[in-house]
Amino acid sequence: MPESSLQSQPTDGVRTAAAEKVITTRGLGVTAGGRPILRDVNLVVEARQVFGLIGPSGAGKSTLLRSLNRLSDLAPGFRVSGEVCYHGQDIYAPKVDADDLRTRIGMLFQQPVVFPTTIARNVLFGVRRLGRVPRAQWPETTERALREAALWNEVKDRLDESALRLSVGQQQRLCLARALAVGPDVILMDEPTSALDPRSTEAIEELILRLKERCTIVIVTHNLAQARRVTDWLGCLCVRDGVGELAETACCDALLSNPQCREVAEYLGAQA
Ligand SMILES: Nc1ncnc2c1ncn2[C@@H]1O[C@H](COP(=O)(O)OP(=O)(O)O)[C@@H](O)[C@H]1O
Ligand SMILES: [Mg+2]
Repeated sequence: MPESSLQSQPTDGVRTAAAEKVITTRGLGVTAGGRPILRDVNLVVEARQVFGLIGPSGAGKSTLLRSLNRLSDLAPGFRVSGEVCYHGQDIYAPKVDADDLRTRIGMLFQQPVVFPTTIARNVLFGVRRLGRVPRAQWPETTERALREAALWNEVKDRLDESALRLSVGQQQRLCLARALAVGPDVILMDEPTSALDPRSTEAIEELILRLKERCTIVIVTHNLAQARRVTDWLGCLCVRDGVGELAETACCDALLSNPQCREVAEYLGAQA
């Protein structure tokens, strides 16, 4: 399919032809138990970009995010059609190892998913499973990941304590450290601050802006002020005939200030 036919090509902004495309979807559709949830999603996410997904509840934002690292495989009854490519490779091709893919495309959820074990074991969960890092380097890997997640100073003296004792904001940064420990180049975030207080939200937003120097981030948010603060590009989903579609994609400022699509304008108006 020629590039110009992708619905998500922006009409303005600063995308350059040379920019590396990290994730692309073509004609992506998702059904659950035979019922269509998403239809014909064409998305282009470029390297070291923070790409925001907005839109009404139930439009399929979480479903779209989960189909980008094959977490959708784990939801019974979900079927994905069309194409999702990561650095040009179809992630649904039979030879692709979904566990390996998820170390390259990490994920943060709305509620931090912390395991009932120590802080250190939480950070090293993926590292131990993959078995690529020698045991002697585990302390160094733990420290690096916790520093990258801006949590090291708060937990360095209690790495063997239960992670469940951390505040929710700290737990979310711990989940980020766990994702970073295995060296992803994409991080998917599904409303990562909606369970957090304003200070913890600010910490995550600062991390997003720092991480984008080397990672590509796709973030679902309901908070348009947050979208303005952290995203470069936005895609807005809407529901048409009961099925989610990607209605419009543009650079953040353009989409928020001058939406081209009626449903997007209505959604933004309702949020204001
Ligand atoms: N496990 C599931 N089984 C069936 N339908 C689901 C499941 N998860 C989500 N859906 C449906 O898919 C649609 C999109 O959901 P979701 O991706 O969670 O939307 P959003 O994140 O935009 O709120 C909704 O209609 C929801 O009811
Ligand atoms: Mg959701």
